[in-house]
Amino acid sequence: MLHNPQMEAMHAATGDPQERARALLEQMTLDEKIGQLCQVNGGQHDLHDAVRAGRIGSVLNEVNVDELNELQRIAVEESRLGIPLLIGRDVIHGFKTIFPIPLGQAATWDPASVKAAARVAATEAASVGVNWTFAPMIDITRDPRWGRIAESLGEDPVLCSSLGAAMVEGFQGDQLSDHTAIAACAKHFAGYGAVESGLDYATANIPENELRNVYLRPFKAAADAGAATFMASFSDLNGVPASGNEFLMKQVLRDEWGFGGFVVSDWESIKELTVHGFSANDGEAAFEAANAGVDMEMASSLYRDHLPGLLESGRLEESQIDEMVCNILKVKFALGLFEHAFTDPHDYPALVNDEHRELAKAVATKSCVLLKNDGPVLPVSLDATENIAVIGPLADDGYEQLGTWIFDGESHHSHTCLRAIYDLVGDRARVHWVPAMRSSRCRENVGIEDAVRVAQESDIALLFLGEESILSGEAHSRADIGLPGEQEALIEAVTATGTPTVLVVLAGRPLTLGNIVDKVSAILYAWHPGTMGGPAIADLLFGEESPSGKLPVTFPRMVGQIPIYYARKNTGRPPSHDSITHIDDIDGKAEQTSLGMSAFHLDAGFTPQFHFGYGLSYTQFAYRDMSLSTDLLGMGDTLTLRCTVENVGDRAAEEVVQLYIRDLVGNVTRPVKELKGFQRVPLAPGESREVSFELHTDDLAFHNRRMELVTEPGQFHAWIGSSSDPELWAEFEVVD
Ligand code: NOJ
Repeated sequence: MLHNPQMEAMHAATGDPQERARALLEQMTLDEKIGQLCQVNGGQHDLHDAVRAGRIGSVLNEVNVDELNELQRIAVEESRLGIPLLIGRDVIHGFKTIFPIPLGQAATWDPASVKAAARVAATEAASVGVNWTFAPMIDITRDPRWGRIAESLGEDPVLCSSLGAAMVEGFQGDQLSDHTAIAACAKHFAGYGAVESGLDYATANIPENELRNVYLRPFKAAADAGAATFMASFSDLNGVPASGNEFLMKQVLRDEWGFGGFVVSDWESIKELTVHGFSANDGEAAFEAANAGVDMEMASSLYRDHLPGLLESGRLEESQIDEMVCNILKVKFALGLFEHAFTDPHDYPALVNDEHRELAKAVATKSCVLLKNDGPVLPVSLDATENIAVIGPLADDGYEQLGTWIFDGESHHSHTCLRAIYDLVGDRARVHWVPAMRSSRCRENVGIEDAVRVAQESDIALLFLGEESILSGEAHSRADIGLPGEQEALIEAVTATGTPTVLVVLAGRPLTLGNIVDKVSAILYAWHPGTMGGPAIADLLFGEESPSGKLPVTFPRMVGQIPIYYARKNTGRPPSHDSITHIDDIDGKAEQTSLGMSAFHLDAGFTPQFHFGYGLSYTQFAYRDMSLSTDLLGMGDTLTLRCTVENVGDRAAEEVVQLYIRDLVGNVTRPVKELKGFQRVPLAPGESREVSFELHTDDLAFHNRRMELVTEPGQFHAWIGSSSDPELWAEFEVVD
């Protein structure tokens, strides 16, 4: 019960969250204010007392609805001011119904799918009392060694911005106060995806210009989409750890972007400022974080322990604390928690219901990328196939197909590939199943002989390999990103039988496939596809659906090429196919300058294994008739770029049509290509469509040497096509 009539009136008030937060702030003691800045893990023994005393603003990692209702009851009815709690959880790619890992969702190139998946995740999470997710993770990364690439939306700022904003919209719904809406958290601000050598938690050094042109853009898009919260990164950015980085949180986020929500630290990342060697002790760390703009502290208790002293000594002003508290209270008001803090699961659809499963299957179907299809061996025709070998440890593993960050996902909900193949094939063909390895890393007792035997007996071998989920995600970086364990030996043995072999890869990152790419007939890259991965993959393998995913990230041939990404700079000495020599072709005693003097690796050349935006279909698309509304664009004008895309094959399918540009000369050098637009276009056999893109001169802007956001007059190239190696080309000029 609220004790005080004045408070009751205020809690009941409707109106602007900012005004309500300010009014509430006036009633608060310093202790209660600091309490709002503290987030603690659920399950701690004195949690109820701490909530009752107003010493906790948020709890994370508690998902028992009864316990959450009890915590909210104590907060609302027994704490002096009745302030409800924020309940945070890592709902990263689904709550109970697990969707493909974010990198897989990015391969859909479909904001509508990504938004719908986040909507389901929010609805399921909200049904147990969670009101805040630590997602989307919108760290641009160009390093597949980094385990957290699985949680990312890939290498490109435009794709990541669009899909990240879609996730924010999906989590937050039409309005935050809806009972199915949960607050989003754009993370990790900022630069985490550029950690050296893909090593998690390592240092990132990113020139400010590159930071603004690449890494910060998705965060700006998330702020514009209304993300209620941001999370500061663990990592050190240019010598200043993000959790104490005033430039990021004050200058960029608040002053330049006008962000009105709140910033949470990462897990103990304020305390870790001392470990970085940035702060001499915990008190200094609390000062740096608070002063830089971290409003809420996750897990550690430096704010509780040190803010009072920092205020007493005058190093911090109470107005700074007020600002932090106000930012948090505003989000609580916007979420409608003061009106409905409690959760009745009956107000929500059932968890993992048929509709949610259907959507999970649809998103997984769109996320798979067909990288190779010689023959074509795919789709498998059941009219011409009597025996099918299904081989590999990931064919029937409901847990591993879910991927990283599935705190609440349960493997018993998973529909595996093997089960889906049995269901789909029925009695039309015989399926011979051999796991061959206990896990993806297995090096002993590999069942190569069994695998070879079933391959020999079969018309086609379907290999389900890749990485188990523990090999990607937080703190799970790899230095060698080849297929682990004895997988390559298994592939060699199976392909040596002469039976056409399809490799289905389930993995949390791009793997280097150079050793086996020429051996298998087809490769379907399925990422970790989630609860309904099995039926999605089976439908693709047997032609119920046509693959339509496209790579959201470049696949290197070898680790040594990393970072390799399509939007690279040209250099002063760009390589060409004619100008490079392979290490095996170098003449003995070759002269220093005899190999051409350009930017390539002697052993890897300069091209990736598979380029950004790439992905095959069971049909073919013809691109023609690119036209521009003008080739002379005045500043402030909009250019329309058009082309015709035709499905010239005999299957209905969807194509992701991509627009790239190059700004030929800039005050700072510009990438050789930049994605500027994309559209998923469904096309029936024989159907053609005109596809058009609008490009305003603001869409050509970049941060120059003085960090100003400018569109410069000059020449541009434009391409439209099916990948970052596009089919059609045109040019235009921007004039002042
Ligand atoms: C650490 C991770 O970096 C972050 O992404 C996550 O949200 C928090 N832990 C909470 O689990």
